[in-house]
Amino acid sequence: MPEVREAILVRPSGPLTGTVPISGAKNSVLKVMAATLLAPGTYTIRNVPRIEDVAIMAELLEAMGVTVAHVGDVLTVDVGESVIPEAPYELVEKMRASVVVLGPLLARFGEARVALPGGDDFGSRPIDIHLRALADLGAHIETKRGFVIARAEQLLGARIILDFPSVTATENVLMAASLAKGTTVIDNAAREPEVADLAAFLNRMGAHILGAGTSTITVEGVNELGAVDHTIIPDRVEAATFLAAVGVAGGEITLAGARPDHMDMLCLKLGEMGMRISPTNDGLWAMVNRRLSSVDVSTLPYPGIATDYKPLLVALLSVADGVGIVTENLFSGRFRYVDELVRMGADIRTEGHHAVVRGVAQLSGAPVKAPDIRAGAALVIASLRAEGETLVTNIHHIDRGYENFVGKLQAIGADVQRVQI
Ligand code: UD1
Repeated sequence: MPEVREAILVRPSGPLTGTVPISGAKNSVLKVMAATLLAPGTYTIRNVPRIEDVAIMAELLEAMGVTVAHVGDVLTVDVGESVIPEAPYELVEKMRASVVVLGPLLARFGEARVALPGGDDFGSRPIDIHLRALADLGAHIETKRGFVIARAEQLLGARIILDFPSVTATENVLMAASLAKGTTVIDNAAREPEVADLAAFLNRMGAHILGAGTSTITVEGVNELGAVDHTIIPDRVEAATFLAAVGVAGGEITLAGARPDHMDMLCLKLGEMGMRISPTNDGLWAMVNRRLSSVDVSTLPYPGIATDYKPLLVALLSVADGVGIVTENLFSGRFRYVDELVRMGADIRTEGHHAVVRGVAQLSGAPVKAPDIRAGAALVIASLRAEGETLVTNIHHIDRGYENFVGKLQAIGADVQRVQI
């Protein structure tokens, strides 16, 4: 039987009005799930989005012998006394973030075998920073037949200086150092809110972590951790996606549950472009009643403008008034979706790490392919201002990171639907 594939069909929309509930953060829950490997017991994780990446991480934990159940937005994870400390290639290949099981497996079982991730659309993404930091904690690391094999009878606290504030490397070290003997100080640590959420989860489990959310984190190793209950922070990139939607299509929306304090720099940029934006008791309100003005944007580690926001900002700039220069400072080759936007009539030139976006009044609908999670969402958002119909295919990428994306857009009045192709 031929496989049924789905696409998202978008027609011109706006103004958008209403409330969008923001789901739990993908980049937080994946690490919290990995951290359950640090101690046996039953964990309750709340505000967990129903997205494909969570299902892949659940599959990975299950392959290790862990039981996972996802009911509503609550994930129950049951970790036993013994676990198979291995992440197979099929799963790591599907999701690079699987590499965050390395730290907890090594710390608790003294051994971890994790398949080496391949490249992706973002260009090469090595894990050398993770491996050097774990070696600093006393791990012996070798690569054999496509696997990283890490061993350590007892990890020892150390001072670690990361070459770059890598998010997942910081998280691997946090998890490993929690069960190390002695004190670990991580310098040049990633400051993302998702790193702080993981640290909050680990501290609930009994870890002693200070300074998460800043660039120096201190971890006092403990002998034992325990299973706990935790609620995941809201997804700032999902929130940014709906802000981009109102920016492109106009209107007035409220993002219920969003954390404006995790999105300061983005809110400043959007304000500069002409979006009215304000915190509410339980989220964020945004209104756009005119064509936005172009600005220049550079991606940076937190608290800078996140690289994950970039495709959304390029979509916004492609219909804004003026010219904006977008500079990517984190990943090479993260401009693949630009070709798709150009096919929709956007005026964008890329040169190395830069994109020059000259806003046009309107795009024109065309069949386009989602190249990755955020760029896929950005294409859907841009299509809200495209004449005619736009068919976005390869939407499995969008499903990896967005819960009910189409339903949430429909609820604020966007003319979007999932169709079979
Ligand atoms: C995480 C996020 C991703 C986000 C990114 C940057 C998750 C699951 N993913 O990815 O959505 O876009 O942060 O905010 O949380 N690097 C090395 N060697 C390493 C590790 C990283 O050279 O060992 C480089 C990368 O190639 C890249 C930069 O460091 O240029 C940043 O990567 P990093 O912060 O590690 O991104 P991820 O943690 O993979």
